[in-house]
Amino acid sequence: MLLFVLWSSFLVLWPSQGAMEGNKQDVCQGDKVMEELHVLDFVNSALHEDFIELTDVRETFICLLYPKNLLNCSWSFLTLEKDMQLSVSISVCHDTTTVRTLNQSSVERVGSRSLNLEQHEELHVILQFNMTHYDKYRVYTYSYDKDTLEVVSPPSNISAAFKDGDLLVKWAESNPMCFEYRVDLGNQEPPKKLKSQLFYTEVSADPTFTYRVRMKRRKLDSCIGSQWSEWSPTVSVDPSAEPDKLNTLSIISISFGIPMILLALLLFQRVSKLLFPPIPRPAPKYIYYLEENYPFNFSPPVQPSKAEEEITKVTEEEENPLGHFKSNMGRTLSNLTQGQ
Ligand SMILES: *[C@@H]1O[C@H](CO)[C@@H](O)[C@H](O)[C@H]1NC(C)=O
Ligand SMILES: *[C@@H]1O[C@H](CO)[C@@H](O)[C@H](O)[C@H]1NC(C)=O
Ligand SMILES: *[C@@H]1O[C@H](CO)[C@@H](O)[C@H](O)[C@H]1NC(C)=O
Repeated sequence: MLLFVLWSSFLVLWPSQGAMEGNKQDVCQGDKVMEELHVLDFVNSALHEDFIELTDVRETFICLLYPKNLLNCSWSFLTLEKDMQLSVSISVCHDTTTVRTLNQSSVERVGSRSLNLEQHEELHVILQFNMTHYDKYRVYTYSYDKDTLEVVSPPSNISAAFKDGDLLVKWAESNPMCFEYRVDLGNQEPPKKLKSQLFYTEVSADPTFTYRVRMKRRKLDSCIGSQWSEWSPTVSVDPSAEPDKLNTLSIISISFGIPMILLALLLFQRVSKLLFPPIPRPAPKYIYYLEENYPFNFSPPVQPSKAEEEITKVTEEEENPLGHFKSNMGRTLSNLTQGQ
């Protein structure tokens, strides 16, 4: 009886012990498989292994290496069954050597863990999830190369200003050939896509619009690639705040505007004196003359006749092709009847 119990417990323990050994084993020493998700299923005391695409699983996760070597792995496993237990393991490997590890059992369905890494030329990160449900479990293993992890910093020293009616955006870059950029002008339009450039010109920019320029960048695949940076801080280009333009405008208005207004006033005074000589009370004979002539002089008899002329012109032109068509039709008809 005792033997039987021992035997059966051995049978039950054997596969899980094998898996435990697998767990203890340094993942950095295993085969490095890139761009594929390794899925290990333990169901009905049997292990199944598979390699699938990341996009083929409903769960999402990613590891990113931010500037200053902050590694952040985040996940969302919202589709897990309620009583399923999730654990996460992050291993940082330099070749087959483990540099850092972080193991946590019973983590939340949506979460993240981060690690501060030292500067390493060559490293890769192995992210592992273990979903346990009673006597079965599933393990996801995914490896990241340093380049695919890396999130570069956004472009620095961004400046934007109006120049000859265009908006000129400039930025600093030590190695522009290695980067592609997105320039968002804050004008509801999709960001501009640029490659290996140090400036962008928005031709015929709206001078009344306050552009809010921000940028992000990514290393090109030809330079081993990287993730997109965050958006840079926004640089506002307020047209009214342009000091040069405002100064010129005020100088122009002060140096020309005021004398011009004075001159105009003076001229108006002279002209009004010439046009309307001071006759406060016209003589009765003039009043009669004015009253008689006022409607005659100011009724414009030329305008309507002109309009009529134009209308007749139009109808003539419109009738012409119709008449032509009619006469052609007549000719065709007569030809037809003649042919018969
Ligand atoms: C996954 O979790 C199960 C149950 O806790 C454990 O037996 C198994 O060894 C774990 N596997 C890995 C690879 O972590
Ligand atoms: C890691 O990434 C997650 C998801 O993007 C974020 O919520 C979290 O704040 C990040 N942690 C750190 C330390 O940056
Ligand atoms: C950015 O501007 C600062 C201050 O003007 C300057 O010291 C720095 O060298 C510039 N960076 C680049 C990459 O040109």
